[in-house]
Formats: sequence, structure tokens, C-alpha cells
Amino acid sequence: MAKAAIMGFGTVGSGVYDIIRMNSEKLKASAGEEIELKYILDIRDFDDHPEKHLFTKDVNDIINDSEVTVVAEVMGGLHPAYEFTKELLNAGKSVVTSNKELVATYGSELLAIAAEKNVNYMFEASVGGGIPIIRPLNRCLAANNIKRIAGILNGTTNYILYQMITNNKSFDTALADAQANGYAERNPAADIEGHDACRKIAILSSLASGKEIDYNSISTEGIVNVALEDVRYAAAMDSVIKLIGYAEFLDNGKVYAHVAPMIINNSSMLSGIDDVFNGILVTGDAVGDVMFYGAGAGKLPTASAVVADILDSVIHRERRSKIGWIKTDEDVCASADDKSFRYFVRTESSAEDAEKVFGGITKLDSLVENETAFVTEELSASVMAEKKAELGGVISAIRLFA
Ligand code: HSE
Repeated sequence: MAKAAIMGFGTVGSGVYDIIRMNSEKLKASAGEEIELKYILDIRDFDDHPEKHLFTKDVNDIINDSEVTVVAEVMGGLHPAYEFTKELLNAGKSVVTSNKELVATYGSELLAIAAEKNVNYMFEASVGGGIPIIRPLNRCLAANNIKRIAGILNGTTNYILYQMITNNKSFDTALADAQANGYAERNPAADIEGHDACRKIAILSSLASGKEIDYNSISTEGIVNVALEDVRYAAAMDSVIKLIGYAEFLDNGKVYAHVAPMIINNSSMLSGIDDVFNGILVTGDAVGDVMFYGAGAGKLPTASAVVADILDSVIHRERRSKIGWIKTDEDVCASADDKSFRYFVRTESSAEDAEKVFGGITKLDSLVENETAFVTEELSASVMAEKKAELGGVISAIRLFA
């Protein structure tokens, strides 16, 4: 029998509990042994809970219990999740997590400790909620050099954009709905300003390259400046606007990455990822394009991935499962100018001025009075910034996904 603990009894933690209770026979069959939940750590009181005897407020109960071999860290946030995880790994216990902030920030160190202690540190739920992406990227696509990862990685922003586009809901109402459904972060700025997607693309690109990609080096823009007019122009281009976590693995060995709203043509598989769903398009040099799609947030979908990691940790108790990356001194991140994009631009300036400054542009029929809209040729980030400043009056500039 394997003994497990849950740290954090919020949305995901209670989902982990529910799945362990709901699917106990299935889990036993998959693990080859029963998985007994011995502790639930939370600072709050759960006196009315039918299994209130499982609750503790002292992490040392778990750390010092040699029977516990696997712990689900679903507390979120950096502290004390980092300290607890470190202590648990050092105590020889496997830890599985949905905590993308922790994995993106301290993943290299925690993975190194897990390797040293011959235990598992698993994080399938940290990206894409219930969508299998970490293991497939690490295992099933292992024969490939990954060329590109482009993902709709944040359910809250995808939900907001979808509600704005299809139901004419205001930004605030759509955000409130996402919060009520348990999709949003405690501080929704992490969603709408793109930081959550940034952590996730940092994890995926670190995994694909085998080297830590520091999330601080990823240029990050959220959806707060996306206007309904932009959405209408996108529709006129047979496209939609989505918040994309983008990583390209360049021939010079560096990784170019950004998080930004992008215009996605309706011919792309990413264009149909609606509502709270996530979609991740991975391109490998052998396999070509592979799409991962499903529920990227929410209680049971995220808990589904956490419980799968618990199972895998039980199965790999003796021989740890190798998954992760290392921190190197190499400069792995490409500069913003190592990759060019075409841009959709809205400006108060005239089409003539736009043509003078940008050269070859594709003009769009104006949908808003006294505005010019056009699409540029491929430009690097710094050339785009220069031309934007030179033209003046630019209202929006959004990259096209190709
Ligand atoms: N706030 C996140 C989202 C939760 O909306 O996708 C899942 O990581």
C-alpha cells in the first residue's frame, strides 16, 4: 500500500481528494497497490468534513512520517510551497504539483534535488490543466527535435476573449464568470497580463530544450489592450485573436519565446480552441504538427493530471522517472530580434503615411472612422518599434501567427 498526502485543500486539492475517493479501485489497478490518503495539509479548519481526521496544519506531520512516499503540492504560490517541497524531497518523498509558478521559478533546483534523492518531482498539471502535455513532450515526442510550441495556455483569458467575441460580454463580466468557475488565479492579473501563460511556456520550452528557460527573459504581454475593434478586424481577416505562448527553437540552438495576443487565421488548428479550453500545437522535425486539446483549468481536470502523477510516482518509486531539465550557464534565450513577424496595425495616421514608413503594406478596409488598418511585411521587434514611433498614432499592433 502506498501512502500519500495532499498539501492545500483549495479547488485543485479538493479535486485530488474527490478523484482518489471516486476512482480508488481504478487507481489501485493502475498502481498495482492501494493508494491510501494519510494527510491533508491546510491552514484552515475543516471540522465539518467527513474525513476531518485526515487534516493537519503542521507540514512536519507529513515530512516526518516515513510511511508517506508521495505528496501532492497543490497549494499554489511560491512560499511556503517551495520550502515544503524542498524539505519533502530532501526527506526522500516524491512530490507532484500543479504549481506552475513554483516549477517555472525553482524547477531546476527542485528537479536536481529529486534526482539526487532518487525520488520524483512531477508537474503534469502545471501546464494545460488536464491535458497530457508534459509526458507526451518528454516521452512520446522524444525522437524529435522540437521546432516550435505555440499554445493557448491560459483558460481564463481564452474564456474572456471568447465571451467578448461571441456573447458580446464585457471584459469585467467575463472575468467575473471565469473567477466564479474557479479558472482564474487568486490574483487574476496573473491571467490577464500574461504571467500565467509565461510560466507555462517557460516550462514547456525548458522541457523541450532540456535547459532552463528563465521566464523573466520571456517578453510578456496580456490581453488588457485587446479591443473589440481589433477582434472585428481579425474577423474581417478570417481570423481570431488568441493569447499565445510561443516558443521557437532556432537553428542557432537558442530559444525565441514570447507571450502575446496573436492573430490566428481560421485555417490554423489553434483558431478553434474556444471557451476555457487550452490547445497546444507542437511541431517536431519528424512528427510534424501535433495538437493537444482539452480542459486547461478547473477542479477535476487539473486534479486528473495531479492524480496521474501520484500514480506514476508510486509506480516509479524504486526507479525514478526522468523528466525535466537542467540549469546551465549558457545564454539559451534568443533576442527579440532573432524572429520576425507580420503585424496587424491600427493607426490614426493616413494610409499614405503608413505606406511611406512601412513600405510594402497590405491595406485593410477601415472598420472605424478616421482610422487606417493594415498588415506589415515581416519585421523584427526593434524595427517594428522604430516604425511605430515614426508613424505615430498607433492604436494596436498585433503579431500574425504563421
Ligand atoms: N488561471 C489558470 C488558467 C488556471 O486560467 O488557465 C490553470 O493554470
